[in-house]
Amino acid sequence: MKIAVMGYGTVGSGVVEVIESHQNTISKGTNGQTMEVAKILDLRDFPGDPHETLFTKDFNDILNDDEIKVVAETMGGVNPAFDFTMKLLKSGKSVVSSNKELVAQKGPELLRAAEESGANYLFEASVGGGIPIIRPMSQCLIANNIEGVAGILNGTTNFILTKMIEDGMTFADALKLAQDNGFAEKDPTADVEGFDACRKVCILASLAFGKHVYPNQVATEGITNITLEDVSYIASAKGVIKLLGQIKYINENKIAAFVSPAVVFNGSQLASVNGVNNAILVRGDAVGDVCFYGPGAGKLPTASAVVADMVDCVKHINRKKFFGWGEGAEDYVADYKECLQMPFYVRAKASENKIKAAFGEVKFLSRIGQPSDEKAFITDIMTQNELEKKLEGFEVINIIKVTNY
Ligand code: HSE
Repeated sequence: MKIAVMGYGTVGSGVVEVIESHQNTISKGTNGQTMEVAKILDLRDFPGDPHETLFTKDFNDILNDDEIKVVAETMGGVNPAFDFTMKLLKSGKSVVSSNKELVAQKGPELLRAAEESGANYLFEASVGGGIPIIRPMSQCLIANNIEGVAGILNGTTNFILTKMIEDGMTFADALKLAQDNGFAEKDPTADVEGFDACRKVCILASLAFGKHVYPNQVATEGITNITLEDVSYIASAKGVIKLLGQIKYINENKIAAFVSPAVVFNGSQLASVNGVNNAILVRGDAVGDVCFYGPGAGKLPTASAVVADMVDCVKHINRKKFFGWGEGAEDYVADYKECLQMPFYVRAKASENKIKAAFGEVKFLSRIGQPSDEKAFITDIMTQNELEKKLEGFEVINIIKVTNY
């Protein structure tokens, strides 16, 4: 079967490579059909590339080719990926995507278009890179009521935090190393400010609870305020700091969803996820905790997930897979600061007596070089609004949520 790839960057070129190098395994999954890359859309030139004859700069060459039934969208960004995907789905072609920004912003419209035309729109690679998570959540865990999800969803920030924790590097040095290694972009904002993890939280939350969650509904905090002093205090409590996306079921009409640095204690499955790896822990009422771990980014791992979706589309040609979710609602995502209780790590300039007067007995932490007027402690469980009220009049240096995953 003829297929096309839109976007010949890291992931798109990986998709072409995996298709060409894995015809044998692919044909096992497609009941003997081969997949032939017929067109590659990209505005750039790739002189000397062995696929030179397949390149086009005109999207209509793919849209109007009746023999192309499945298209991989690995362009990234909302525009023009949205317009192209919409036109392909409306024309009855199936689309698979690694584009989390597009799914998070426009998922319901694209899923509806696929529903109406009978095409499939799949995006296993949009969360966790090569880790199987979309299919397990939509199929294998379907008998569960999901109670919550917590994930290390961004490889770049996990690499930076790992370097800070294990090698004592500053945030700035670790970021530079991530850039030198090609993990972080020149402009690392989407990773370090948590926006990339936020998009993945939207997709996981929509999948887990059946209603779309938009990025502007997810409170998002990145890792730029994390210092080696915080890392050191938390190490004394036998924990590590991770950037987590967290989703919690509240009731049929409400969930909580947020991205923030979080203290993870060493017994957790998430605590030992290091470097650019990702992990997603899903808590179901029947299954308990299941954790999906592996490479969350990279050319071939991400291509592995994209190509698996293409195989599924080939297998389901002219047949709709039951997959997707409904529209969201403005008041669907609750204010987690008001409705979720948890312990908090607090670092402040204050005396022990002042802290005890406000919080009662707390667990004090220590670090080498700790100034006598600086205290760090872990509170009892409370909402963030309650915490902020208690901290009125304190000179707070940092607050980090403590997770129960
Ligand atoms: N920038 C992302 C990361 C790529 O570092 O995880 C994969 O989504």
